[in-house]
Amino acid sequence: MYKAKILGTGSYLPEKLLTNQDLEKLVETTSAWITERTGIRERHITPVGQNNSDLCVQAARRALDMARLEPKDLDMILIATVSGDQTMPSTACVVQNKLGCRDIFALDVTAACSGFIYGLTIAHQFIQTGMYKNILVIGAEVLTRIVDYTDRNTCILFGDGAGAAILGRTPEGEKSEILTSHLHADGSLGNLLELPASGTAIPLTYEAIDQRLHLVKMQGKEVFKNAVRTMTICAQEALDNTGIDKGTLDWMIPHQANMRITDSVARYFEIPKEKVIINLERTGNTSSATIPIALDEAVRDGRIQRNQLILMVAFGAGLTSGSLIMRF
Ligand code: UT7
Repeated sequence: MYKAKILGTGSYLPEKLLTNQDLEKLVETTSAWITERTGIRERHITPVGQNNSDLCVQAARRALDMARLEPKDLDMILIATVSGDQTMPSTACVVQNKLGCRDIFALDVTAACSGFIYGLTIAHQFIQTGMYKNILVIGAEVLTRIVDYTDRNTCILFGDGAGAAILGRTPEGEKSEILTSHLHADGSLGNLLELPASGTAIPLTYEAIDQRLHLVKMQGKEVFKNAVRTMTICAQEALDNTGIDKGTLDWMIPHQANMRITDSVARYFEIPKEKVIINLERTGNTSSATIPIALDEAVRDGRIQRNQLILMVAFGAGLTSGSLIMRF
């Protein structure tokens, strides 16, 4: 079995911002309420003409540059997203074409906010067995196109962005590797966070659109409770499986949905705030993209160094959850 490490990271946030003050003009809310209850001040919004696949390509090019690889070196593309360009073809196929890759295996992973950890875990298996050498894993969302800007419970949370990582073989003698990952799903709670008219169960009729069923519906309080519960269970599983003492972790990168959620999880594990990588204030919740964007920013600004221990943990619609510990 081969060990797998992240060879390079990249991220991309569209330039345009949607601030709390902008949202005050759309729904009955205040900037102070949003900041106090979520920690978010602004999020990025994708302009017309730019799509999920374009965000992916930008993030992927940056990750390829860091890894000193070319698109032709990639063996597989996994894109974690719930807001792809279209359901068919997959966004991964669109990205494969836009990057100019060989005719490699490309698919989308639908696990909402846990999608990047799901993607890394899938990619890890292909590296371990030796089947593939270089795999592009991206978390990317254009959530601002599926959020209901008349619903103050949801529209204040979400933003757009993409984060990418290239997973490859760890060279002989190096310590970097994915040490463990744990994935879960509880489909019985799928109704807590959903996009009702996004498939074939509820076709996209005028009636469905009038009922705004093509936009995200969320039971925020219930999602919140489950988020804290599943993230702590999942992170504990990763610690137990590796025998790693939580005090030796260098960084925790939690899914960034709400500052109160990430604070609760960090408090539970007694991880000091300085060791928790958070960018939620500037990005909002970008679902599958929150962890890879935070990872890339911390790699590029020098906080994350090679051989440090990183715990990633996420939860999302499904409900899904996942944790992963790597030696970077
Ligand atoms: O990636 C996974 C995605 N989702 C999540 O992680 C979401 C998890 N949930 C949350 O982050 C929080 O539940 C929310 C931010 C959505 C809501 O915050 P909360 O502190 O749980 O508020 P609440 O639902 O308990 O509502 C408290 C009050 C209500 O008013 P009343 O009924 O007490 O009069 C809401 O109507 O706050 C009201 N409210 C707002 N007020 C101003 C809800 N949204 C807003 C708003 N501005 N945007």
